[in-house]
Amino acid sequence: MGSGTRRSTHREQPTSDDARLASYPHPYPDGWYRLMTSKSLRRGQVRYLECLGRALVVWRGEDSDEVHAMQAFCPHLGANLRHGRVREDRIECPFHNWQFTGDGRPACVPYSDTAPTRVAAESFPVRDVHGQIFMYHRSDGARQQAGDEVPYPVPRLREVDDGRFVFRGHYDAGRVHMHIIEFVENAADFAHFLYIHEQMNVPWTGIPVPGIKLEHTPGVEFPEDRPWTMNFLDEAVLKFRDRPLERTRTKARATFTGAASIVNFRFFIPDTGEIDLCQTHLPVGPLEQQVDFHWFADRSVPRLLVWYVVGSWISQWRHDIQIWENKAYIEHPTLCRDDGPVVRMRRWYRQFFPDLQPPAAKPPEAPGEAPDERAERRLVGVASN
Ligand code: FES
Ligand SMILES: [Fe+2]
Repeated sequence: MGSGTRRSTHREQPTSDDARLASYPHPYPDGWYRLMTSKSLRRGQVRYLECLGRALVVWRGEDSDEVHAMQAFCPHLGANLRHGRVREDRIECPFHNWQFTGDGRPACVPYSDTAPTRVAAESFPVRDVHGQIFMYHRSDGARQQAGDEVPYPVPRLREVDDGRFVFRGHYDAGRVHMHIIEFVENAADFAHFLYIHEQMNVPWTGIPVPGIKLEHTPGVEFPEDRPWTMNFLDEAVLKFRDRPLERTRTKARATFTGAASIVNFRFFIPDTGEIDLCQTHLPVGPLEQQVDFHWFADRSVPRLLVWYVVGSWISQWRHDIQIWENKAYIEHPTLCRDDGPVVRMRRWYRQFFPDLQPPAAKPPEAPGEAPDERAERRLVGVASN
């Protein structure tokens, strides 16, 4: 046997998916999901996607900008429509050349004049908004149709519609091995900001900036006029040797539309303008999120500043990933008085998870007000944008 020193070959064992999955609610909550950028789907093009526990084809008509989405497997004998062709506004199956309209109905069977038009394959409501394609998904297993009524719209930014904001970028952040609910919970978990988000990083990276810390004052609100949204509010200031640098104090508001499938961060930069950063999660598996960012800004905000603000958020987002990729969902969490409004938040997001049981928390050990009340009181003074 050689006498040289042995190098450690220890690798961390990944946390078991089985143990984690058993703890979580439905992996694909109700809501609008971003599928792709609009420009990635040209007229006459078909794209295939696996997400939300489904196999889908999405296509754009040859002569119009309309986008359609339906189940990928042809309802005739199961060929995959991904290899089909777009004919005018329809998709044609590559196997026996049946053609389907965007509502999943067979419109033409080339070798027969008896197209079974009363039967429709599953199709989905689709919207093309601000350069992104979204589809609505229901988690209850009910058969969906393109023309279905939906409980709330895809969020539009007035500033993009009226031309005040301009598109400034898109970033495909790839996959994160987490359940979608974790991103929502993160906003209500105020205590973690002190331990996970205190370190200032070089924008876009996990590289710490020595000596500079970040102090966050988070809050949440639940708009009554749009119950499908929740606002997370944060006031942040940089600190050097524990002293706040007041000129760096900034406010941000994140609007969650649905259970974190669409989140719009609004950054208010004093005397300069605003930036809207949209972060989207598309579940491609029960514990697998495709994460994308796209953003708009006032023309008055210099591109370098936009790059810095967006990159700083993305570097903070990266801090949570190791926690998310290894954690489980605690249905009855043991909370203390100074935790954020986790229980209130869970009540809110139950609307997107029809299978979720009413949340309940063990009472805090110390007597006094409930964690929710305390956290909501702390919000006062933060949220005025
Ligand atoms: S399988 Fe699609 S037309 Fe026959
Ligand atoms: Fe976080």
